[in-house]
Amino acid sequence: MTVSSNRPSLRAGMVGMGMIFDETYRPFFERVHREGLFDHRFGAIDVPLTAVASKTGQRADSYRQVAGSKIGPFASFSGEHSVEQLVSAAPDFACVATPDNRHFDAAKRLLEAGIHVLIEKPSVLSLRELDELTAIARSKRLLAKVVYHKLLDPDHKKLRTLVADNVLRHVNHGYCSLLEPKQVSGSQFAEWITGRNPGTYVAVHYIKLIDFTFGGRLKTVTATGQRGIVGPKDGPTWDSTQLRLIYEYDDGREAAFDIHTSWVTPDNFPGYVEQEVQFRFDNGVWNGHSRKRGVECTVEGETPIARKITMNNHYNGTFLEPWGERTQRGYGVEVLERFARELAYVKFGGPASEESQRYVEMQQLDYNDLSADRQTVAAVQGLEAILECHAAGEPDCVARVGDPRGELVLYRPGISTPMVLN
Ligand SMILES: NC(=O)c1ccc[n+]([C@@H]2O[C@H](COP(=O)([O-])OP(=O)(O)OC[C@H]3O[C@@H](n4cnc5c(N)ncnc54)[C@H](O)[C@@H]3O)[C@@H](O)[C@H]2O)c1
Repeated sequence: MTVSSNRPSLRAGMVGMGMIFDETYRPFFERVHREGLFDHRFGAIDVPLTAVASKTGQRADSYRQVAGSKIGPFASFSGEHSVEQLVSAAPDFACVATPDNRHFDAAKRLLEAGIHVLIEKPSVLSLRELDELTAIARSKRLLAKVVYHKLLDPDHKKLRTLVADNVLRHVNHGYCSLLEPKQVSGSQFAEWITGRNPGTYVAVHYIKLIDFTFGGRLKTVTATGQRGIVGPKDGPTWDSTQLRLIYEYDDGREAAFDIHTSWVTPDNFPGYVEQEVQFRFDNGVWNGHSRKRGVECTVEGETPIARKITMNNHYNGTFLEPWGERTQRGYGVEVLERFARELAYVKFGGPASEESQRYVEMQQLDYNDLSADRQTVAAVQGLEAILECHAAGEPDCVARVGDPRGELVLYRPGISTPMVLN
C-alpha cells in the first residue's frame, strides 16, 4: 500500500477489531490519518493503518464502510491465518487487541517477523510467555509495549506525583473495585468467555497501577470468586473475583491491596463501569471514583441504557470542540499516540547511527515496556492458577512470588509439595 506523501511513515497493523478497537484505536488511527504526527525531534510523519486481522473480517468491513474518508485504504485479513497474512503486509508496528488469552501467539509472530508491537492489557498470561516475547524483542531490537491506559488517567498521574514527591508517604493498604455491566460477559465477549474471569480482564488495570505507582516487591497472591451467572456455579467461568496482593518495600514494611471485579453488574447501572479506589498511607488517604468525577446527566427515554448517567469524559469522550470540530479524545487515545511517538523517535529522531541509543532510551520506559510487566504478569498468572485449582475443587490456594522454590509457586491447602509455576 502506498502512502501519498513524501513524509516518513510508520505503517500500522491491527490484530483484533472488537470493542477496544472501536473505543480507542479507531479514534487514534483516524486522528493520525487526518493530522499526521509531529514532534520537533522527528518532524512530520504519517501513521497509516495499512492492514488489519480479525476472526471473521465482518467488523473490518463494516468499519471501512462507516469510516469512509476518515481512514485510508487498508487490507483486511480474516480466519485462521489472518496474523500471518498481516505479517506479509509488512507493517512497521502492529497493535494486538485480541482476547486476553490470544495475545501471546499474535505478538510472537509479529515480533519474529521484525514488527514492533503494542499489546492490550493484560500483556500475556504467564511469565514464560513474557520471557519469550521479551527475548525476541531484545534480540531484534524491537519495541514490545503494553497498553495500560489508567496510568495516563490524570487522577492516577496526580496520585503517582504525590507519592513520588513524598507528599503521600508509605502506602499501607488499599482497595480497588471495577465492575463491568452484564452485557460485557453476556454478549460482547460471548465468543471467548468460557473459562475466563473478570480479574485478568480488568483487575489487571489496578495491579499495574499499584505496581507502577508504589513500586515494591510482590510477595503473595490470594484470590477467590463467584460463579453461577455467566456459567455453571461449579464451572471454570467466573462472574466476579476478589484478589489480594501483598507487597514488601525496601524498608521491610508491607502493604496489602484488595481488588474486586465483576462483569455481571446490571446493564441499567448509571455508568458503563464502576471504578473506585482507596489507598491509605502513613500520613494520608487517597479516595478516587472514576465514575463520579462530577457529571450526572439524565435524558428521558435514553439513560441509563442507551446513554449513561455518569460519563467518563476523560477516557475517550466524543466532543464538539469549541472551534466546530468533532473529536474523540482522552487518555485512552493518548496512550496509543504516545507509543507511536516513541517508535517514531527511535526510527526518525536523529542520525541512524544513534538509533540504538534511542531504542534503549524508549525500551527503558517502564510504564509500558513488556520487560517491566513482570510483577503484573506474575499476579495475573497467580490469579489464573488459583482460580483454576478452585474450579477443579481445590479452593484457597496461595501463590508466592520470589519463593525459595521458584519465581512463582502455588501452595495448595493440605498438599505438602507446592506447584512451581515459574
Ligand atoms: N484498555 C481497556 O480498557 C480495554 C477495554 C476492553 C478490552 N481491552 C482488551 O482488549 C482486548 C480485546 O478486547 P475487546 O473488548 O476488543 O474484545 P472483542 O471480543 O470485542 O474483540 C476481539 C477481536 O479479536 C479478534 N480475534 C479473536 N481471535 C483472534 C485471532 N486468533 N486472530 C485474530 N483476531 C482475533 C476478533 O475477531 C475481534 O475482532 C482484550 O485483551 C481486552 O482485555 C482493553
